[in-house]
Amino acid sequence: MFAITNSVGMFGMNAFPVTVEAEVFKGHPQFDLSGLPDTGIKESRDRVRSAASSVGIQFPKGRILINLAPADVKKTGSSFDLAIFVALMQAMDILPLRMPERVFVGELGLHGTIRGVRGVMSMAMLARKNGCQEIYVPKENAREAAFIDGIKTYGVGTVEELMFHLVGEETLTPEPHYEPEGSRTLSEMLDFCDVRGQFKARSGMELAAAGGHNILLIGTPGSGKSMLANRLPTILPKMTKEEILETSNVYSVAGLLTAERPLVTERPFRSPHHTISAAGLAGGGSIPTPGEISLAHNGVLFLDELAEFSRSTLEILRQPLEARKVTISRVSGTAEYPCSFMLAAAMNPCPCGYYGSPLKKCTCTQKQIHNYISRISGPMLDRFDMHIDIDPLPYEELSAKEKPESSAVIRERVESARNRQEKRYAGLGFYNNAMIPDGLLDEFCQMDDDAERMFGKMYQYYHMSARTGMRVRKVARSAADLHGNEKISCEDISMAVQFRGFDSKYLR
Ligand SMILES: Nc1ncnc2c1ncn2[C@@H]1O[C@H](COP(=O)(O)OP(=O)(O)OP(=O)(O)O)[C@@H](O)[C@H]1O
Ligand SMILES: [Mg+2]
Ligand SMILES: [Zn+2]
Repeated sequence: MFAITNSVGMFGMNAFPVTVEAEVFKGHPQFDLSGLPDTGIKESRDRVRSAASSVGIQFPKGRILINLAPADVKKTGSSFDLAIFVALMQAMDILPLRMPERVFVGELGLHGTIRGVRGVMSMAMLARKNGCQEIYVPKENAREAAFIDGIKTYGVGTVEELMFHLVGEETLTPEPHYEPEGSRTLSEMLDFCDVRGQFKARSGMELAAAGGHNILLIGTPGSGKSMLANRLPTILPKMTKEEILETSNVYSVAGLLTAERPLVTERPFRSPHHTISAAGLAGGGSIPTPGEISLAHNGVLFLDELAEFSRSTLEILRQPLEARKVTISRVSGTAEYPCSFMLAAAMNPCPCGYYGSPLKKCTCTQKQIHNYISRISGPMLDRFDMHIDIDPLPYEELSAKEKPESSAVIRERVESARNRQEKRYAGLGFYNNAMIPDGLLDEFCQMDDDAERMFGKMYQYYHMSARTGMRVRKVARSAADLHGNEKISCEDISMAVQFRGFDSKYLR
């Protein structure tokens, strides 16, 4: 009998439909599987055989033919097992031939168990788009799929369960639609109310969050750089449903979602070590998996000890930072992953850590400082809209009784600044000030007359480059959005200029 059933394959972030055809002929006992790479075929065959025997089914005496279509698309992974199993059971007349539009994904494990696979969220989205009504997924992936509206999700633990269900005993109940409860975990543990004093750095973080600006934190050891950076996600706007979907999708493909954490509902904070490989950072592998920059999608990528990162590692970041997506080419095809993140980096001001510090004398030579700084290439430094100097905390501030402002309060101001930006840029393909294309700067970063004059003077005084001038204007736009100003005012300009400390500290 000829049977056909649906499954979904993944390449990178892209799900594609796969049909599994099965037929049993008279003849020598043989199991032919086409449409998978050689090694995959052998393993899949063994797993299907073992799953069948777990429910007491012996393979038929004849020749079994399984084909995965389309043939010209490379298929990898083990997620087709379940559909192969179902198609075979249909061809053997054990399961009904006619079924409503159903999709099966999952890897078969020992004794008929069904093991989790990557990318279930994308798979469910595709299945719904293609008009399927039900998707059967491994139990541990059920909540991911249940986030997608418009398709019924069944989480399946064993093939036995599935068989009973498919012959009409309805042993499975559909997974209830999953809505994540609001932010918890991270924002409960980290909060700006733990950061004492540091008024300038705090306002810098708020300004950066308000416009989505990349920031470089510069300060002596122990001054609180990591502490501030860690808390950045807690003052960024809450994730929208769309963002939750996008980021969770990346994590789903990377195999990082679990039954306990079926969705990413907090903006990610990724802090790769400076020894990270190119593939670890940007993504890679023979079946390309997302790298740190994509795991930071819609969140923060933090490069601690920026000067320790090799030039070649930092170079990898440049293009994806601009494009907000990364393309990984392999012989098997090209995968594209999103990577729209805020870049935060931290560094000491010099090798000994105390250049410019009021606390301790720097022991470095000019040459050492120069070498240290020039390890970070100019084009890389250029990616930071803001430089935030962090001075060591004076004792009075550390011991002050007053409780500092909490992340929730700061986040409210950030959100209202972001709302202004979203309205202003609606339909233009970008949504915050950091993303304003150079050509639109004059239109969106208008200054009032006083600000215009002041900016001109500062431009000359600080020997700004045209590039720096543009960054200052974008940041000033964010200050204006925080302050509720239609046009950029003097106050907004001077706030933005405050955060170009690096230029004046080293480059003049
Ligand atoms: N403003 C502050 N308020 C309260 N505690 C602080 C503050 N700044 C620093 N600390 C304390 O000092 C510790 C060290 O800070 P942190 O690790 O953020 O410094 P750092 O600048 O990243 O240092 P390093 O250069 O060594 O990485 C923090 O864990 C925190 O306990
Ligand atoms: Mg640190
Ligand atoms: Zn020094």
